[in-house]
Amino acid sequence: MLSPRMAPKVVPVGPTEGSPHSLAGDAAVDAARQAFAHDLRQALSSRPRSISPKYFYDSAGSALFERICELPEYYPTRTEMAILRARAGEIAALAGPGAEIVEFGAGACIKVRVLLDALDSPVRFLPIDISAEPLAAAAAALRRDYPGLQVQPVAADYTRLLLPAPVPGHGRRLGFFPGSTIGNFSNAEALQFLQRAASVLRGGALLLGADLVKDPAVLHAAYNDAQGVTAAFNRNLLVRANRELGTRFVPTQFDHSAFYNAPMQRIEMHLVSRCAQHVELDGERFEFAQGQTLHTENSCKFTIESLRALAVRAGFTPGPAWTDPQRLFSLHWLEAPH
Ligand code: AVI
Repeated sequence: MLSPRMAPKVVPVGPTEGSPHSLAGDAAVDAARQAFAHDLRQALSSRPRSISPKYFYDSAGSALFERICELPEYYPTRTEMAILRARAGEIAALAGPGAEIVEFGAGACIKVRVLLDALDSPVRFLPIDISAEPLAAAAAALRRDYPGLQVQPVAADYTRLLLPAPVPGHGRRLGFFPGSTIGNFSNAEALQFLQRAASVLRGGALLLGADLVKDPAVLHAAYNDAQGVTAAFNRNLLVRANRELGTRFVPTQFDHSAFYNAPMQRIEMHLVSRCAQHVELDGERFEFAQGQTLHTENSCKFTIESLRALAVRAGFTPGPAWTDPQRLFSLHWLEAPH
């Protein structure tokens, strides 16, 4: 599975101040539609049925995810922020002066402000995200608030890790990948992402957020919130498929199911058909039996040790790992060798 805000297409990189590159125009929209149709057809044709969680993140899905981050049950966002704030001084000392920050899947660029406030004269910030317009707005706000900082947004699939070369004379390049988005990758994808990150961050470091294995009841609550926002986020995949692909899902005929798979140390999200029904995709008919599921997301949980072992396999040298007093979430400093 792939992670949030990943695009089906590569975008060439080489941004100029104020103008993020984007997949613009009808051809790009059509290519994105075709990729979604292809992946959904593949999902509906296979057993078990499974699709990448990247398709959650149209504008409605992104807005629902922002709401999830504010929910009382969803502890990762506020816990990671608290760790970042508590450790900002240590992070700044490790990064050194004149650092360049690269954020993978930057979104609204909120968390990075804690780093920008703490670092010694950061020189440049490269936020990478597939959603060009919100990225441009976030970049404009950062330029206003940090006038000495070069902000160069890159609207692209961040897993491709195509980056402008580091500027000679700058400090270290610091990658930032918060939110435990790493947990939405398969093991192979996580390893591949980290290997590529180690190579583009050579001589720098990666600051990585990873959610921890914990009491399954806490996890269950975080993915089954009382207000039903996570359920709406899950079903939004069907709403999006109807709008973009004309599939005729009846979203209310699918139950949200999220549970902790202990042997795999992950939350799984599924959409479970409430009855026998069928959907259509480009003239083809796909049956759902009652109880049949579409697997929409894995959210893997880590131990400090399992995350560090993964980082070592990818070529990093782990530095400090920080956590909160309840050991809910972890933040890792990973050195990328030269
Ligand atoms: C983006 N990602 C780290 C979230 C997670 O917790 O895996 C996505 C999410 N899915 C349901 N709630 C939040």
